[in-house]
Amino acid sequence: MDGNGRWATQRGFSRVQGHRRGKDSVKEIVETARELGIEFLTLYAFSTENWERPEREVDALMRLLRHYLRSEVNKMMRHGIRLRAIGNLRRLPREVLSDIRAVEQRTRANEGMTVQLAVSYGSREELVTAVRRLARKVRDGVLAPEDIDETLVSDSLMTAGIPDPDLLIRTSGEMRLSNFLLWQVAYTELYVTDVLWPDFRRPQFLEALDDYKRRERRFGKTAEQLGQEV
Ligand code: FPP
Repeated sequence: MDGNGRWATQRGFSRVQGHRRGKDSVKEIVETARELGIEFLTLYAFSTENWERPEREVDALMRLLRHYLRSEVNKMMRHGIRLRAIGNLRRLPREVLSDIRAVEQRTRANEGMTVQLAVSYGSREELVTAVRRLARKVRDGVLAPEDIDETLVSDSLMTAGIPDPDLLIRTSGEMRLSNFLLWQVAYTELYVTDVLWPDFRRPQFLEALDDYKRRERRFGKTAEQLGQEV
């Protein structure tokens, strides 16, 4: 969800006002995804690197996150949305973590769409944590190195149980992954738009999905092989 800062600066607003408008985009995109029957939606709200931002901006983002959770939880319940968070959540201020846990707890049995919030998230850190966990099991003699396969690695990540994304949308034109779901996006379709996140609303989302629908996903196979499978 990139470009909140630029959106605000272009209008002579503070960066925080950009994030505030970004929160409105979050609401609209979640709503649209749910209406379309999308089962899993992951939002990259705050990276491990974002902790380096000025304290005022970090505080404002934390407040916005809390506000979002508190104001949306009833809607999540009405619409069967399950919320879960991934990231190094122990770094979050106590009250933010407790709001996240409360919403996760309340929505955990919902069976509609799953919204996965990546907060204080970094993919490399996630991988390091998973490698450590597996290494400990090997050390303790409960896992043989040759039993480590792709499924086990996937199941050791914070996203365990959530399918790999079909489509990754990055706003504001940056052509990079920025430490987001590096393992999980191996075969994900990438869509980069110049639109800044606060302007990324329903029509822009539908355009991205339309673009995705026109793609041919080959997963390393030839087009002819795929034709034969149909
Ligand atoms: C990146 O834009 C955006 C963020 C670091 C924060 C994203 C947060 C929100 C959309 C609002 C709160 C989130 C939720 C889930 C309610 P940037 O600030 O790096 O933009 P820039 O590159 O133009 O400076």
